[in-house]
Amino acid sequence: MGRFKVTVVGAGNVGATAAQRIADAELADVVMIDILEGIPQGKGLDILEGCPISRSDVRFIGTNDYKETKDSDVVVITAGIARKPGMSRDDLLKTNYDIVKGVTEQVVKHSPKSILIVVSNPLDAMVQTAFKVSRFPKERVMGMAGVLDSARMRTFIAMELGVSVDNVHAFVLGGHGDDMVPLPRYSTVAGIPLPDLMSKEVIDRIVERTRKGGGEIVGYLKTGSAYYAPSAAILEMVDAILKDKKKILPCAAYLEGEYGINGLYMGVPVKLGSSGIEQIVEISLTNDERAALQKSAAAVQELVEKIGV
Ligand code: APR
Repeated sequence: MGRFKVTVVGAGNVGATAAQRIADAELADVVMIDILEGIPQGKGLDILEGCPISRSDVRFIGTNDYKETKDSDVVVITAGIARKPGMSRDDLLKTNYDIVKGVTEQVVKHSPKSILIVVSNPLDAMVQTAFKVSRFPKERVMGMAGVLDSARMRTFIAMELGVSVDNVHAFVLGGHGDDMVPLPRYSTVAGIPLPDLMSKEVIDRIVERTRKGGGEIVGYLKTGSAYYAPSAAILEMVDAILKDKKKILPCAAYLEGEYGINGLYMGVPVKLGSSGIEQIVEISLTNDERAALQKSAAAVQELVEKIGV
């Protein structure tokens, strides 16, 4: 028996931080790959040298060669360019499409049985790209967005009420863009639905801040986008898969009729286990919520059509 193997494509902020979290948690051996020469090797060695202190016995390889990624169990794709101030996720579309397409072709060649977690933005269009290019079954290709968006919403709810983040569950559906659909009705604090705890005005403010959560960070950083919370979200998904936890998490999943959406990736609650997406969980929506989800789907559909995937 050996350890699991996780490849992280992209040794930038999101990729390296996710790789470090996975190694520190002793979840798997990690291969971090990038096109830049020296960066994955240098950051990889640096992370490895921290492992004695975090008491983690894993192998960590930084490389530019896909041969090292051979037979990975999970591949996290963070390659791409990050959003700059004033740049929408959609501006990234064409550049990141070419990058994600090329990366996916390499990943499929070397790890044909892997589970893909796509992180590159614009998220829903990039995960659809990886799905179409890989020709993997839909269960094995998913996008990371909902875990991050709901973690942001949980943070804001906990801050507002002065309660433990542990007590707070938040529910966010839809695409990972300004049209995402936070659902206060399904968001709870110690089991109590949000509308029983806060006024509509406060909820609306939290929902708006959640929608713009990525942009708020970009506004501060100026040269780059968020990576601490995104990498924590990646860790939670990788952990659920490798430990076969059957955890219900919001992820971008390929819908074939669920929620009235067909042939498109959208953020919905799924059961994550060792086979990947083991179930799509359907919840009942009000007419307004359904309309918001349709609007979000239409925005993703537009991107997907632009790149023809
Ligand atoms: N193959 C491998 N790595 C690549 C490729 C490629 N074809 N093209 C670019 N990269 C690498 C870059 O060299 C860089 O090291 O991807 C890395 C991206 O890192 P950052 O620029 O630091 O971006 P980051 O903040 O990590 O965001 C990565 O995740 O959240 C999303 O919007 C974000 O799409 C962006 C992605």
